[in-house]
Amino acid sequence: MIKVKRLRHVSFASRSVEAQLDYYRSIIGLAVIGRDDRRVILGTESDELTLVLEHGSASRLTAIACEVAPGLDLSDLQKSLASLHITSEIRSDTAPGIPKTLVFNDPDGLQIELFSSWDFCKPVEPIRGLAVAKLGHVALYTPDPERTAKFFGDVLGFRVSDRIEENFVFLRCGVEHHAMNFARGAEARIHHLAFELRDASHMHQACDLLGRNKFQILWGPVRHGPGHNVAVYHHNPDGYLIELYYSMDLMLDEELGYFEPRPWHHDRPQRPKTWVGLPRDVWGVGPAKEASEFSPTMRGVK
Ligand SMILES: [Fe+2]
Repeated sequence: MIKVKRLRHVSFASRSVEAQLDYYRSIIGLAVIGRDDRRVILGTESDELTLVLEHGSASRLTAIACEVAPGLDLSDLQKSLASLHITSEIRSDTAPGIPKTLVFNDPDGLQIELFSSWDFCKPVEPIRGLAVAKLGHVALYTPDPERTAKFFGDVLGFRVSDRIEENFVFLRCGVEHHAMNFARGAEARIHHLAFELRDASHMHQACDLLGRNKFQILWGPVRHGPGHNVAVYHHNPDGYLIELYYSMDLMLDEELGYFEPRPWHHDRPQRPKTWVGLPRDVWGVGPAKEASEFSPTMRGVK
């Protein structure tokens, strides 16, 4: 089994790359690392590649890139995938600073990219906006959350952190409660993208910046149940739900099997479980009706 260590960056196709670019620069606080006719590549203030925006005829998530342990030979990982009847290829053109990438598809057809060696990529312009800490997690709709979660577990080494009834699965690949989430939906597409903030003052700054720029806050600030992150949600110019959060649960020791104790936990200790019924959130009111991602059947999903 391959062990993914970190979620690293995502790629989107967009019909309006320039509008997306303005949003990610002025609100989220990423900055351009490089660009060509086909795409624009953005990074964080920590010089980590975070987002690839490609020109496309439709707006959609096209790939998720994850890091595996340094020194791993991608051709060995390719053999490991082949033994599971998963076809893959090794490419050298996926992103700057990443010499080789192992590329394959998940069961829903989403492109997964794995790499073991990379360089920091310094932005070529000043950071503006919120200067988020990093890309935190990606939530996807999938017709069968358990099947997709099993693929990420069996093939990529993700562990289940929590479930919400039969509708949502949270997976971790490091110490943070979730790097990937799978929500039940008719078709495979993005549910939301989450960026990490530093702390409560950064959250306050985020709410002020969203308000000043007429981005409606659709949910939050709220402290969730699963993951216990403090989160706020809005739609970006392509209509995707974006979450900004801080203070997520950490499982520092897998053998202990519980999340670092926090006073807001309901369970002592807080172990992975299936959350049933409402309320799940520790505090905060429910989502606005404009957030269709949180329709009554999906309410509480995050
Ligand atoms: Fe989330």
